[in-house]
Formats: sequence, C-alpha cells, structure tokens
Amino acid sequence: IEPPKRVVEKLSDEAEVDDGTRKVTIFFGTQTGTAEGFAKAIAEEAKVRYEKAKFKIVDMDDYAQDDDEYEEKLKKETLALFFLATYGDGEPTDNAARFYKWFLEGDEKEEGWLRNLEYAVFGLGNRQYEHFNKVAIEVDDKLADFGGKRLVKVGLGDDDQCIEDDFTAWKEELWPALDELLRGDDDTTVSTPYTAAVLEYRVVIHDPLDASVDEKKWHNVNGHAIVDAQHPVRSNVAVRKELHTPVSDRSCTHLEFDISGTGVAYETGDHVGVYCENLSETVEEAVRLLGLSPDTYFSVHTDDEDGKPLSGSSLPPTFPPCTLRTAIARYADVLSSPKKSVLLALAAHASNPSEADRLRHLASPAGKDEYSEWVIASQRSLLEVMAEFPSAKPPIGVFFAAIAPRLQPRFYSISSSPRMAPSRIHVTCALVNDKMPTGRIHRGVCSTWMKNSVPLEKSQDCSWAPIFVRQSNFKLPADNKVPIIMIGPGTGLAPFRGFLQERLALKEDGAELGPSVLFFGCRNRQMDYIYEDELNHFVNSGALSELIVAFSREGPTKEYVQHKMMEKASDIWNMISQGAYIYVCGDAKGMARDVHRTLHTILQEQGSLDSSKAEGMVKNLQLNGRYLRDVW
Ligand code: 2AM
Repeated sequence: IEPPKRVVEKLSDEAEVDDGTRKVTIFFGTQTGTAEGFAKAIAEEAKVRYEKAKFKIVDMDDYAQDDDEYEEKLKKETLALFFLATYGDGEPTDNAARFYKWFLEGDEKEEGWLRNLEYAVFGLGNRQYEHFNKVAIEVDDKLADFGGKRLVKVGLGDDDQCIEDDFTAWKEELWPALDELLRGDDDTTVSTPYTAAVLEYRVVIHDPLDASVDEKKWHNVNGHAIVDAQHPVRSNVAVRKELHTPVSDRSCTHLEFDISGTGVAYETGDHVGVYCENLSETVEEAVRLLGLSPDTYFSVHTDDEDGKPLSGSSLPPTFPPCTLRTAIARYADVLSSPKKSVLLALAAHASNPSEADRLRHLASPAGKDEYSEWVIASQRSLLEVMAEFPSAKPPIGVFFAAIAPRLQPRFYSISSSPRMAPSRIHVTCALVNDKMPTGRIHRGVCSTWMKNSVPLEKSQDCSWAPIFVRQSNFKLPADNKVPIIMIGPGTGLAPFRGFLQERLALKEDGAELGPSVLFFGCRNRQMDYIYEDELNHFVNSGALSELIVAFSREGPTKEYVQHKMMEKASDIWNMISQGAYIYVCGDAKGMARDVHRTLHTILQEQGSLDSSKAEGMVKNLQLNGRYLRDVW
C-alpha cells in the first residue's frame, strides 16, 4: 500500500511574480505543533499587513525529497522565515532532521550560494536544557555564512517561561524590516493592532447509534505501509509489572507491548511513541466544564459545506468521527497550562463580561506578570483555568481547534532487545505524580495509564494503545569487542537493559565481547533497585563486565553515578584510551549535565590536560559518535 502523501501545497518555483508580489517562504521544524502554529500565525498576520506578498508555509521535510533538491530550491528563495524547535540533547525535530544534517554537515557548498536570501530565524527551546535553542542558533549562523542577509537577531523562544511573549517580541523587531521589503510605495495599508481570529472547525453532529461501530473500526486498522507518528498501530499490553517494592513511595512500571502481527520492527536503543488516553476522571471534568453531553457523536471539518477551506490553512489536523468522551480522552491535552491565545479563545466564549475581561487582561501585555505568576509559575492546567471561568463554554469546534492542544504521544527508550524479545517492546516508565503549586496532584497521562493498564496475562479484554517506533542513533558499537561505558540512573537504565540483552544474545551465539561497565543509580536497595536480578545475571553470564550502583538515600551522604565515576576515573580513562564508547541515558537537566562535567574532569585529571584540551577531547568523542546521550 502506498503511504499517504501529506497534503503539501504545491510551491511555485518562481521567486517573484510580475505584478511586484514578493514570495515569502515560512519554514517550520515542529514536534508538538508550536513552531507550526507560530509559522501559521505570522503568515496570517503578515497577510493583513502586506497586500503585495504571497506567503507559503512549508514543513521542512516536505520541502525537498533530497539534498540536491534542498540546495536547488533554497537558492531560489529570496525571503524566508524559519521556525525551528530544539529537542532533547540539542536535536532538531524529526521533520527538520534531514535538512539540518545536510545544511550543517553536508557536502561543501559553493561560497555565497545563499546571497539572494534575506531571512529571519525564530527558535523554540527551553532554557532549562544545556543546548538551549541550538538548532535555531546554528541554522541562523550558517545562513549568514552562506551569504544570506539576516533581517533580525535570531529569536530565542523559551518554553520554560512564556514563549508566546518571546515570539511577540521577536515579531515586533521583524515588522520594521519586513515593512521595508514588502510595502510598496503606494501601499496605504495601516498597521492597526492585529487580533487573530479564534479558530473553529465546522462540526457535524451524527447519529449516536453509529458511534460504537465507527470508533472500533478506526482503531483496529492501520492500513498504511509505514508505521509512524501519523500512522500508529494498535498494540496490546501483554505484560505489566510494578518494579518498585511495596516499601517504595514511588512507582515504576515495566510494560510489554505485543507487536506480533503489527508490522512494527525495532532495534535496540530505539524509542517507542505511545498515544495513551486521558484518565476517565480528567475526561469527566472536561465534559462537565464544557457543559455538553459526553455522548455527542460528531466529526470536525476544515472546510465549509461547499468544500472550501475555512479560515486559510491554520486549522490543526482533524481526527476521525467519535463521541465527545472519546475525543477528549484521545486528542485533548487539558492538563498543560493554557497559552495566551487560549485565554483569548475562552474569553470570546465567556458569557459573563467580567470573566471575559479578566481573561483578556491575563492575555494582554498589561497582564504579563499576572499570567506568569497565575498560569505559568503555578502550572495551572487548562481544566483549572476553565473551572475559574465557568461562564466560558466554548463550542466543540472551538475547543478542539483553538483551546485544547492535541494530546501528544509520549516517547520511551525501549528497554528490550529484539534478539531477546522479537515480538515485544518493553518499556520502563516511572510514575509522574507531583503536587503542583496550586495543590493539584498532577498525574502523568501516560505513566498513570501504564500503571493502571490491564495486561493480556490477566484479561482477554486487555489494555492497548496506538504505538509506533522512532529510530535513534543510540546504538551499540558495530564491533562487539569495543569497550562500552554505560551511565543510566533510574529509568535511564532502560536502553542499557536492551543493550545487555543484546550482548547476552550475542555471547550465547559465540561472539567475543569487549569490556563493559554500567553505572546505575537509585535511592535505596530495598525500594527502587529495578531489575536487580537481571543485572546480576548479566554480570554472571559475562554480558556485563562490571556493575556499579550508587545508592543516593542509603548512607549519610548522597551517592550519585558521577561520584562512582570519579572513583573509577582511571578505569574510565583506560577504557576511553582503548576506544570505548560512552553512553548516558536519563534526566537531561540534572544528571546528564553533572555526568558531562564529571567526564570532563576525568579526562582533564587522568590525561593531565588543561580544561580546553579536555573540552576538545569530549567534543571529539561526540563528533566521532563515541559519546552518545539519550536524555530528556
Ligand atoms: P535522589 O532522588 O536521591 O536525589 C534515580 O532517579 C537516581 O538518580 C536517584 O537515586 C536520584 O537521587 C539520582 N539523582 C538525582 N539527581 C541526580 C543528579 N543530578 N545526578 C545523578 N543522579 C541524580
């Protein structure tokens, strides 16, 4: 079966049309849709400001089939905006990965090959992470290196604070530059303050009797040749186990998805994307706040009755017909904090004028501090906000188009190897159960779902979820004899369990294995030493040469993996000298950062290097693919 082509508007290649209309290409590299949303929002706004310009919004991946086409088409661009998100360990989004690799590292490019291009870049990142906005910064620099003319400084959107404000501030800098380029002499359009229209799908209500049939039909088939985020497959939960002991006050789930007969394949070190559903209590609360019947059976459309597209192309993708209950469970992210645009959409549907005013105030420049405090710092969820403004009752079409963002798939490092578990994907998932500043207990959508899931072992009517595999470059060395150093505290152990299963299978097949060491960390042997027996078995069987565990809450002082690394500094140095690969998996903000510093210190001390030489060595390891991180 041919995979479906995503609908891409055909780009006409001519840079300028005769009547003086200028073409502006707006690229986006998006993972969860924010960059795409900004690209669309700026296009809508710019259309109003500039009559004589044509705007094209382009998914980075859809732009070109291969590197040559990227080059050929980019050369012809004269004015472009880029919205680029940075993820995990300074990585591009999936849909920008191919472009990024080629643009930054690909073949030598002719000097000044982008000299005809004027451009601006806005990045989406999070300051809590080490490589804040790396992708946008690098692309922005490269564009200039290649001869492009930068219109404004690269925008550094920070999702840890209010990224919408960063976007607004960047736009304010951009407009004067665009005014010069896109306003004709006879252009009399005045730039009045622009307010985006509230997006709304056309909604068709169907006969509720069809609901049970249609909802089942959709989920049992994939029907596409490829399995990816757009085309997940239904997979049953075969096994579910609690990994912490009863004395632990936390929880960590071991889960096995059955992939037999699904066409899904994976490699050790890959990630699995899981679409799970909101808890029923969350769905009920959302239904209550909307004041609609949960059994309303409906479909959403982006065109009018005559098939003409509604309000440009800004509407998010639709979903199959279902009941309101199902739609909220599967598609609505109602636990994240609402963006300012969401507050405005709620205001537009608040029947009580003082509630509407208050919502508008929170979204306005004057309400900036209150918004930061009341929404962002308090991590107030969309549901909590809606509960505070009970008169705001948006219709279904607005709720799904403009208020509740799409519930995103969650990614997990697969904790098995296909050599050991060819028809299973194992996941190791810590329960998210945090008390928020408002007093709300935030229960992680997917981790709670996994913890509560019913495995096939227990019932034929087991839990299941649409899943897909995302490939990673977190792989064992091609040569089994190369030494490996693995660092993975907590659920950071996941991919290493897969690695060790793989090594055990290789060993059983008679392969010769190089030395390996695993640094694992947990709080207390009696509570959260996950997979203890398996790890010991890996050591006893020779799949793992050395297991070193840091217990952070057993003794009087905290022992972390990096402390254990320092104790083993000379062994680590020796292994690296012999060509070892170093792998780190787990929390990016704390652990991976500290481990990185420790590695630097070890190289510096053991190699008697100065700091910059040690830094260079770390860089080299990274460049040669010998220092790999799978962090979140
Ligand atoms: P803690 O919870 O006692 O602080 C798995 O989560 C293990 O990682 C726990 O033992 C946890 O310790 C530890 N941990 C927390 N922060 C860390 C850091 N910055 N570096 C290394 N380990 C850390």
